[in-house]
Amino acid sequence: MKKIKVMSVFGTRPEAIKMCPLALELASRSEFDSTVCVTAQHREMLDGVLSCFGVQPDFDLDIMESGQTLSTITTKILTLIGPVIQKVRPDVLLVHGDTTTTFASALAAFYERTAVGHVEAGLRTYDRYSPFPEEMNRCMVGRLAQYHFAPTAQNRRNLEREAVTGQIFVTGNTVIDAMKYTVRGEKFDCEALHHVDFSRRIITMTCHRRENYGAPMESIFSAAAELARRFPDTLTIYPVHLSPTVRECAARFLTGIDNIMLIDPLDAMDMHRLMSRSYMVMTDSGGIQEEAPALGKPVLVLRRETERPEAVEAGTVKLAGVGRDNILALASGLLTDEAQYSAMAHAVNPYGDGHACERIAQALLHAFGMADAPEDFAV
Ligand code: UD1
Ligand code: UDP
Repeated sequence: MKKIKVMSVFGTRPEAIKMCPLALELASRSEFDSTVCVTAQHREMLDGVLSCFGVQPDFDLDIMESGQTLSTITTKILTLIGPVIQKVRPDVLLVHGDTTTTFASALAAFYERTAVGHVEAGLRTYDRYSPFPEEMNRCMVGRLAQYHFAPTAQNRRNLEREAVTGQIFVTGNTVIDAMKYTVRGEKFDCEALHHVDFSRRIITMTCHRRENYGAPMESIFSAAAELARRFPDTLTIYPVHLSPTVRECAARFLTGIDNIMLIDPLDAMDMHRLMSRSYMVMTDSGGIQEEAPALGKPVLVLRRETERPEAVEAGTVKLAGVGRDNILALASGLLTDEAQYSAMAHAVNPYGDGHACERIAQALLHAFGMADAPEDFAV
């Protein structure tokens, strides 16, 4: 039997967390000949995830440089990935989400007349500059891809409105599959967390988005600093992204405050342990907006919009914006009003059931005439 040749390409931490379970699923099935190519748009943060999941890439483009620009990431990937595609000649190249790795790899596959499958397709804010450049990246990949793996029914509707060509499957988000690997045990690998008193109310915080660089990030950090001062019983733990822009700003606003801990990025297992032992989460991350609701933790989203309205509708996520006063008001409400807190602190899982990778594998078999289409994921 001829195998379907699938090449999965990813490069940043969140893509790796969401693609490793899929790479493992494809590798475990005899119908596929699966290869993994990493761009290493992130280096350390990618390698941590690869070792967490035990995934060994077949190709590593090793492109990361400190303070890289969107243009250098794009041009390096375009230049380096073509020869890999020519060597492997996959039947389909899988990309994930909305990073510059995603867009550049999909474009390179198109140049090689190779079919593209888009995992986590159809998320939209309809604001081309927010998130930047991710909204445009995912729209462009929507045009380039033939197979669209939409996490939710809402994501499918977005793609249908744009009349994308090819086939759309509603699969759930592979992040929920990833949590089957990562959510286990209570003991942290990170030494800094061994000494934390978890009887305190822990606020897990992250912030890294490009559109938040500058004034919005300063406003967010100023709110976090003030929140810590007003609620001395809380402990904010912030694993700071390795971006030099983020680290400089976090150091300026958040060092020297007793109940704020700035630490290095955590591996995925520790991060999920930390969230599950937290009181609440404040973040501008996409992936964390999907994970924290599954863990029953209220989330304040530190952005003006979100492409993930499902958990907002379910009541566990609130859009806090980037204004200091609004963030402070919403966070203070969660810390003082029990009714408000318990209304948000219930586990919901609008993003998946842990079987997204199986559905994607079956959808690929279907696309190549080897199986029925999978049933859509439904909440
Ligand atoms: C990228 C993605 C963003 C995603 C985020 C996840 C784009 C345009 N942006 O943004 O969608 O939400 O990843 O975290 O694709 N760095 C290191 N080591 C690492 C990782 C990063 O030193 O392991 C530093 C480097 O100086 C690098 C900088 O962080 O130049 C920024 O990384 P980059 O991938 O360009 O942007 P992110 O903000 O991480
Ligand atoms: N994450 C992690 N360690 C950290 C911070 C985040 O493993 O120190 C995980 C988090 O649980 C989620 C993913 O990284 O799975 C989100 O990545 P990020 O916020 O960098 O990107 P986004 O999802 O916003 O694109």
